[in-house]
Amino acid sequence: MDDVRTVLERRLERAFDAVRPGSDPILRSSGRADLQANGSIAVAKALGKEPADVARQVVESLDVADICDEVEISGNGFINLTYSSDYLAERLAEMAREERLGIDLAEVPEVVIVDYSAPNVAKEMHVGHLRTTVIGDALARMLGFLGHDVRRENHIGDWGTPFGMLIEHLVDLGEEVGARELSTGDLSSFYQQARASFDASPDFAERSRRRVVLLQSGDEETLRLWWVLVGESVRYFDAVYDTLGVLLTDDDIVGESFYNDMLAGVVDELDAKGLLVVHDGARCVFPPGFTNRDGDPLPLIVQKSDGGYGYASTDLAAIRHRVQELGAKRMLYVVGAPQAQHFQMCFAVARMAGWLPDDVEAVHVSFGSVLGTDHRMLASRTGGAVKLVELLDEAIERASTAIEGRRAADPNNLAEVSDAETARMVGIGAIKYADLSTDRVRDYVFDWDRMLAFEGNTGPYLQYAYARIRSIFRRGEVPVPTPSPPLLADPHERALALALLWFPIALRETLATYSPHRLCGHLFEVASTFTAFYENCRVLVDDERVRESRLVLCDASARVLRLGLSLLGIDAPERM
Ligand code: ARG
Repeated sequence: MDDVRTVLERRLERAFDAVRPGSDPILRSSGRADLQANGSIAVAKALGKEPADVARQVVESLDVADICDEVEISGNGFINLTYSSDYLAERLAEMAREERLGIDLAEVPEVVIVDYSAPNVAKEMHVGHLRTTVIGDALARMLGFLGHDVRRENHIGDWGTPFGMLIEHLVDLGEEVGARELSTGDLSSFYQQARASFDASPDFAERSRRRVVLLQSGDEETLRLWWVLVGESVRYFDAVYDTLGVLLTDDDIVGESFYNDMLAGVVDELDAKGLLVVHDGARCVFPPGFTNRDGDPLPLIVQKSDGGYGYASTDLAAIRHRVQELGAKRMLYVVGAPQAQHFQMCFAVARMAGWLPDDVEAVHVSFGSVLGTDHRMLASRTGGAVKLVELLDEAIERASTAIEGRRAADPNNLAEVSDAETARMVGIGAIKYADLSTDRVRDYVFDWDRMLAFEGNTGPYLQYAYARIRSIFRRGEVPVPTPSPPLLADPHERALALALLWFPIALRETLATYSPHRLCGHLFEVASTFTAFYENCRVLVDDERVRESRLVLCDASARVLRLGLSLLGIDAPERM
């Protein structure tokens, strides 16, 4: 079933078509009406007419009597459209009767790869990994809800030359001590110590180099040690994922090592297709359109001069595998902005090689850095890199204090219980929401006080709005009504109905650019509109028709908030 915006857009398209075939109505939100069509201006220009005249002509053939009760033309030719309340009420009842709240399944379900999280073995997971994990997980949930066959792929860094030194460091430390450091997340010290030994001791460096050769030739003992590194690191990643409440499991790990034995084939195929150029001893592809600062063509190195393969060849192998073996139609790479050029070049080379056909979409879902409140890169209290588990624990601790503080400050508030589980939901929800509600391409400021505030566009505000609605039903001991068209006599009722009906539209717009902040913005709008409604319209009144009607609005609001939050990967506690 088409959403309310699409219904109106279709009608407008028909009317615009009658004036000038193929013209776009250019439907926009408007401060003066529910929506505004601005297309008359372009049509007027093309036909050499006045925009207002074109608008009048459009409106003459516009058939919206059953959905709008006001169509007004402004002086400059904008067409302002206002839905009739009856139409909104009908559509709202329909939405409330559906489990999916008006969100249709995708007509053609696709295999969609979401490549996200991807921390590196024996290296600290930094806040950048927090962003990819949170954003990628939200996108995976939304696409899954639409019925797509979503394959989460955790492309962990588990292969390559650093593993020579990491294995030697493990041997020096002793497996038991090393394993403990890795699984508890003392990863940066592990990596840094390995690095330090490598730099300080020629003997260690030599052992490391030999170890790389052993690893690549499949030496059994070396592979066993490598597996200790991977396994213990994954234990730490899992602990983070568990606290964070994301969908990723060990089954989603398809690390760099997975592609190892495909790399030679990838390079051979590039060679057979005549795409390889030897440049400074390395085998490269020069995709057109990429240049360095001096304007010289930029190579994508697929095999280094020493014969080793790197990050780019692995990603090329992954593209080929995902398209040819998994049947991917869409691939999302949720990775920080600094890797933009890497992905653009890999996609370009994959297209040249025929591994990325035109009907397959590959998108770098890029994001900015996490900054501290001082607007510098986020650092821990001691100045070093922030350890992710500690950050999450701190969020939960702070959430518990924030919930208590709120209860103390407001004796009437509806908070009823606060237990460890609620604190977890609120703390983790706050971290996730702060990240998701910022346009991902921007840097974002990690600010505890802001993200945990109960006012404003925050996770706790939305969770609180949800819990508050649930408590209306609980305390009033009223059952959830069977959906019927609500009365929309009060402007606050009408505004709420309209906001709720916008939910499927907001989700569609979110996925059009893979921008979760759009869904966040919409949910904030729903919660604020609900708050205004609740402050202005008493729900538990004696008049049964009014009460039932308002309860329909309450219940639909709660369900939109809960579903919306769940699509973001955020829990909604029943009580707060
Ligand atoms: N491990 C990489 C990093 O930490 C991210 C990998 C992203 N995915 C990919 N297919 N390259 O930067």
